[in-house]
Amino acid sequence: MEIKSFAQNIVGWYHRHCRDLPWRHTRNPYFIWLSEVILQQTRVAQGTPYYLKFVEQYPTIFDLAAAPEQEVMRLWQGLGYYSRARNLHQTAQYIVQNLNGQFPDSYQKLLQLKGIGPYTAAAVASFAYNEAVAVVDGNVYRVLARVFGIDTDVASTAGKKEFAHLAAQLIDQAQPATYNQAIMEFGAIQCQPVSPDCLLCPLQGQCLANATGRVGELPFKTKKTKVRGRFFNYLVFRQGNSIALQLRTNRDIWQQLYDFYLVETDDLVSDLDQLPLENTTGTITGPSRVYTHILTHQRIQAQFWQVHLADSQAGVLPVGLQLYTPDEIEALPKPVLISAYLKEYF
Ligand code: ADE
Ligand code: SF4
Repeated sequence: MEIKSFAQNIVGWYHRHCRDLPWRHTRNPYFIWLSEVILQQTRVAQGTPYYLKFVEQYPTIFDLAAAPEQEVMRLWQGLGYYSRARNLHQTAQYIVQNLNGQFPDSYQKLLQLKGIGPYTAAAVASFAYNEAVAVVDGNVYRVLARVFGIDTDVASTAGKKEFAHLAAQLIDQAQPATYNQAIMEFGAIQCQPVSPDCLLCPLQGQCLANATGRVGELPFKTKKTKVRGRFFNYLVFRQGNSIALQLRTNRDIWQQLYDFYLVETDDLVSDLDQLPLENTTGTITGPSRVYTHILTHQRIQAQFWQVHLADSQAGVLPVGLQLYTPDEIEALPKPVLISAYLKEYF
């Protein structure tokens, strides 16, 4: 297909169909960066409230940099991939401390920052500074793979190169910001992953996947991600209204978030006797129902037991645990699994 008409078609479609989204009204690189980091985790509908919360709570990069990490994590709660929230915070501090709070103003400079990869750098450089660098995300892969009939695996090194090269040729040099928004929006709304409405598509006549009946097969992905099953047994120590939580610091999921005393097992446990526990004091109730929590590469099944401690037994908590009041717990950053349990039982 002719390169010029591809961009024109996509941009034309965008002007007719684009959604009115808050980050499309700003050229502020800090806001754009925030929105892009949030939207890498999540869909627009779920991400928008987070974006609005962050912009309200931290209207400038100085505000974000000055915030306690725990507060940032709490605000991020529910988005997952918590290392991204930490990177966001650390990068804000870096920009404030080393760059006088001035956001880097080119693709190459943006790439140097922690947590900013080719996608985010291209998004910020184009949306904030109108630099002609193409964004390549999942939406873009899908559109290009279908329209140009490419069946290279998008997860392979060769695939990444091929798609990046094509994307760089296609970008509208005169209006890179609009073009980049347009192709992502086109992928999100028109060329959807499952059963896109090709009859109504402005690219229908030029789309190779449509012409060859391969819309369902493209984009091609070989790698099936393996999902690891994990079994979490939580002991919820409580004394009166207070509950004992611990900060997670291991190299594992949920770093810097709070959970309860955890015993992980290879299988689902039906009886506390199956847990390798040192002699626990207190009255034990439970287990709770089995909670299932799905992450990208993990499927966690969790059960909770409550351990009721008498006033005199505060000293017997396992190492690392600390008692918190309900108000304190509300303010702590926690995995969604822990919040769900607390909501149901407390
Ligand atoms: N997903 C990632 N970036 C986006 C943006 N700027 N607008 C809509 N969806 C997006
Ligand atoms: Fe996507 Fe169908 Fe349009 Fe091709 S014709 S770009 S597959 S919506």
